[in-house]
Amino acid sequence: MTDLSQSQTKFAALLTEQLERVERMKQNAAAIDFSALDKIIIGVASGDGIGPAITYQAQRLIESLLAGAISSGRVMIKPIDGLTIKNRVAAGCAIPPDVLHAIMECHVILKGPTTTPESGSPWPNIESANVAMRKSLDLFANIRPVRVPEEGIDWTFFRENTEGAYAVGSKGFDVTDDLAVDFTITTTQGTQRIVRAAFEYAKSNGKTRVTAVTKANVIKTTDGKFLRVFREIAKDYPDITADEWYIDIMTAKLLDANRRKHFQVLALPNLYGDILTDEAAEFQGGVGTAGSANIGNRYAMFEAIHGSAPRMVSEGRAQYADPSSIMRAAAMLLNHIGYSDESARLSAALDACKSEGKVRLTGRSDGATNAEWTEYVISKL
Ligand code: IPM
Ligand code: MG
Repeated sequence: MTDLSQSQTKFAALLTEQLERVERMKQNAAAIDFSALDKIIIGVASGDGIGPAITYQAQRLIESLLAGAISSGRVMIKPIDGLTIKNRVAAGCAIPPDVLHAIMECHVILKGPTTTPESGSPWPNIESANVAMRKSLDLFANIRPVRVPEEGIDWTFFRENTEGAYAVGSKGFDVTDDLAVDFTITTTQGTQRIVRAAFEYAKSNGKTRVTAVTKANVIKTTDGKFLRVFREIAKDYPDITADEWYIDIMTAKLLDANRRKHFQVLALPNLYGDILTDEAAEFQGGVGTAGSANIGNRYAMFEAIHGSAPRMVSEGRAQYADPSSIMRAAAMLLNHIGYSDESARLSAALDACKSEGKVRLTGRSDGATNAEWTEYVISKL
């Protein structure tokens, strides 16, 4: 008979940790009121690979739009070095403690892509920096808008960002040589806050439909809870249609040009949100074009949705990398901290550059550099 005591101990530790997290969620800290702050600190962590090249360009846009607020001292931009795969490997953790400390002195973070070691890669198995930051800053809502007006696409995804398959994603284990287990976690509190955020967004932005996406027909306990909580919260919003789809058919229906126009706000568990938002971004021109906001009550982090593209760097093409995604993220950041006009100007400039297309990025030397692209965006602000 296999001795299960080690596995049982690991499982018990994992449950204890999650129960403690539930207790912390019950405290439910109030969200920051940025209008009441004398000083807002924006941390800029540029990450790995093409990260520094593109993040710097997005920072230039923020500096240009907030020039007045920066010179008066209301807004401060603070560089956060050290969120690199080298440092993270050296420290043996997803976010070195000094880097996390520097991040926690800020109100919001603009974050470039960070390399995530995958199983079998030369890097040790440290957790993804994105995932670690979402968890340690309790950034529970991953908000990802996708818009293609000419095709009637206007979607806002509310991806749960701290639970599901990601909650203990690096804590699965091999029970024996033949049996590996991972875990997926759903809590009442964690689901309530993401679903409520989705409905509140719908309500204050004139949206009429919120769609839950699960696989509750098969993943009955955890996805089942997500769906039950969704139905419960939907009752508080009688003017909004609440509908339910399974993730498999939803991936198909995003390809259905008639059906997809109906979707507006979508609320989903972490992994489905991860997958579906990549598919959705493809309609808009790819993951390189979509921004992503990770919002909690105390902190918020805004990032590019794509990876660090090490190949572009090794081929000497970092200066041609498309900064649109992190620029969209910068626009969301401006809106979050209360500069909604500046945010709208940036979004409009990005739209104008994309549709006019006088300067074009190809990722290679036959296209513009990201600095040239940024000049173009600045000219449209
Ligand atoms: C994303 C990314 C991350 C995720 C990776 C890099 C860990 O794919 O932000 O969607 O899976 O959440
Ligand atoms: Mg993803």
